[in-house]
Amino acid sequence: MTRLLTVAVPKGRTLKALVPLLSRAGIDVGTLLDADRTLIRQAAGLRFLLLKPDDVATYVERGSADLGVCGRDMLREHAPDVAMPLDLRIGVCRMMVAGPVGVPIPEDVPRVATKYPRIAAEHFTKRGAQAEIIALHGSVELAALAGLADVIVDLVETGETLKQNGLETKEEVFAVSSMLIVNRASAKLQREAIEPTVAKLRAVLGT
Ligand code: PRP
Repeated sequence: MTRLLTVAVPKGRTLKALVPLLSRAGIDVGTLLDADRTLIRQAAGLRFLLLKPDDVATYVERGSADLGVCGRDMLREHAPDVAMPLDLRIGVCRMMVAGPVGVPIPEDVPRVATKYPRIAAEHFTKRGAQAEIIALHGSVELAALAGLADVIVDLVETGETLKQNGLETKEEVFAVSSMLIVNRASAKLQREAIEPTVAKLRAVLGT
């Protein structure tokens, strides 16, 4: 017996890229793009939960959603216990160290502002350097402009935010894209419903 699958999706930029991908895979996106404020959207055979990107993995890990769409940035930072069968190749960007144009990363204990404290700490440890990590919630670029930090660790997509704020990339941490993630119990109990959905996406992506 299968039940309606619940899919946790991030609101914002990634959703805009996700909808055409689902459509190409023949998956009904139902009311997903409707411009109202409802947080649960129905489609034929699927129920979508619209979430902040940071919360998708929590819903999937804890089983409130069977499937989810989650960036490698979140997966690396929070290491949720979920299956990751497919790279969806959307939400493509890079996790970068960035700072003021022409100013090298300080050799001694740089102050690093970021929404990703674990990723930033691991990066500087790998580099063999100590760093003071300053955890922020958004507009991280400002930290490097206002004297709060020497550099930032953040996502760069077009590079426009850095450019418009007199910042530049210094080092790449890793490449980011959105993954399809699956609750571990659902992967077994809802296998009959999940597998065709994954197969359709895989066919469109050619993987
Ligand atoms: C993200 C990221 C950068 C920006 C990069 O921020 O944190 O600030 O996008 O994109 P770009 O290279 O295309 O300019 P977001 O818009 O999610 O807002 P936030 O800073 O409040 O997290």
